[in-house]
Amino acid sequence: MRAHEAGALHASGYGQPSWLRVPDDVFGLVPSLWSSSVARGGDGVVTVAGVRVDDLAREFGTPAYVLDEADFRDRAADFRYTYSSVFSGLGGADVYYAGKAFLCTEVARWMRDDGLSLDVCSGGELEVARRAGMPGERIGVHGNNKSVAELEAAVGYGVGKIVVDSFEEIDRLAAVAQRLGRPARVMIRVTVGVEAHPHEFIATAHEDQKFGFSLSGGAAAEAARRIFSHAPHLELVGLHSHIGSQIFDTSGFEVSARRVLGLHADIAQEHGVELPELDLGGGFGIAYTTEHDPLPPKHLAAGMAEIVERECRASGLAVPRISIEPGRAIAGPSTFTLYEVGTVKTVDLDGGATRAYVSVDGGMSDNIRTALYDANYSCTVASRVSEAPPMLSRVVGKHCESGDIVVMDEFLPADVRAGDLIAVPGTGAYCRALSSQYNHTPRPPVVAVRDGAARLIVRRETVDDLLALDVP
Ligand SMILES: Cc1ncc(COP(=O)(O)O)c(C=O)c1O
Repeated sequence: MRAHEAGALHASGYGQPSWLRVPDDVFGLVPSLWSSSVARGGDGVVTVAGVRVDDLAREFGTPAYVLDEADFRDRAADFRYTYSSVFSGLGGADVYYAGKAFLCTEVARWMRDDGLSLDVCSGGELEVARRAGMPGERIGVHGNNKSVAELEAAVGYGVGKIVVDSFEEIDRLAAVAQRLGRPARVMIRVTVGVEAHPHEFIATAHEDQKFGFSLSGGAAAEAARRIFSHAPHLELVGLHSHIGSQIFDTSGFEVSARRVLGLHADIAQEHGVELPELDLGGGFGIAYTTEHDPLPPKHLAAGMAEIVERECRASGLAVPRISIEPGRAIAGPSTFTLYEVGTVKTVDLDGGATRAYVSVDGGMSDNIRTALYDANYSCTVASRVSEAPPMLSRVVGKHCESGDIVVMDEFLPADVRAGDLIAVPGTGAYCRALSSQYNHTPRPPVVAVRDGAARLIVRRETVDDLLALDVP
């Protein structure tokens, strides 16, 4: 192994992950990682929907989440169109955008206008939906510990379904529905013993987690009995199963659908009721780096339709109306985070190699996923190009934690320096949503870009915002 002429790593074998290759062009943009309108202009500056990132940085500051509106809405429309066409000859299908990935009033309005439904999992998310004018019947409510106030808000707003998660909640919700004089449509969150992770899923018999009613232990069947006992205040409309995240094929869904449809058939036999709906959850994977190769919705939808139809035919039941809840696969690829580089340090590694630590003006407060889940991201210098060779780098934040890493391993040009703009793609899901004010850092704005124009859909926090709750 030899150190690169720029004094940095330029070959495999220095501890970078196996999927990370030395790029032919360190300024190249891998299309699968970026929203559809991102390109590098002739002068080397990255643009999104025709807007230059240096102009965005000047107008809105850094760090900033830059959201490609057409890309976000096209992905949502693709899911909606694909699932409704693939399931049209069966029981039909609905797509609930999982707002936990990223929600603000404008995004909820897009989902309202574009015909999607919305999955919320707190009173706060429900309030965003309400203020955006999302019709109640197009809202699904999740949560393993919904408060009475949250249940009252959901029933009062006439939501389409509340996914119940415990026996206490069933009784609590029945009391709320009775008190408000409005029956609640409910689904049972079933824990089917399938855990999906990137590139694999694990099917187990045990269900050792906080969500849902165990299928194998009989709690899910008992939940159905409890709900029927609360008629007419509760109306059981279906079963729900969510198996995990970053799912890249239908094998995990195959096991979970088979198991949950087994319960669907048992309920039909025991209660003489064919539940009209079935929700198979979210978790559709996206490409954060070149190691990921997600399938387009049409492949997943076709696979899921085949599985559901086969299982229903085997038990002689009609195919229920299917719903899915993609969050990351709609929001994630639409957005990149734009940072400015403040400092660059090189550190010596074993074997005579070096690594560049490139510090940016954000970090774990705007993207906790790297520290929390060991998530991998990619990035590029977005404000210029040069002839400099690739250098193995780590992009770190400005917070007081050594684990404050944004991009663990990436090749950046060896001349990366203070003042450069760095863009990190794939940050539309679970970054703003999980952001914090750690170290009293104001949270970045969300800038939506469309047809050559940029506008704020969430403004930057100010120091006054940070102090607004302190009692003087
Ligand atoms: C019940 C449920 N539905 C949908 C989602 C969305 O998952 P994703 O954003 O991976 O599609 C989640 C994520 O945690 C979830 O818990």
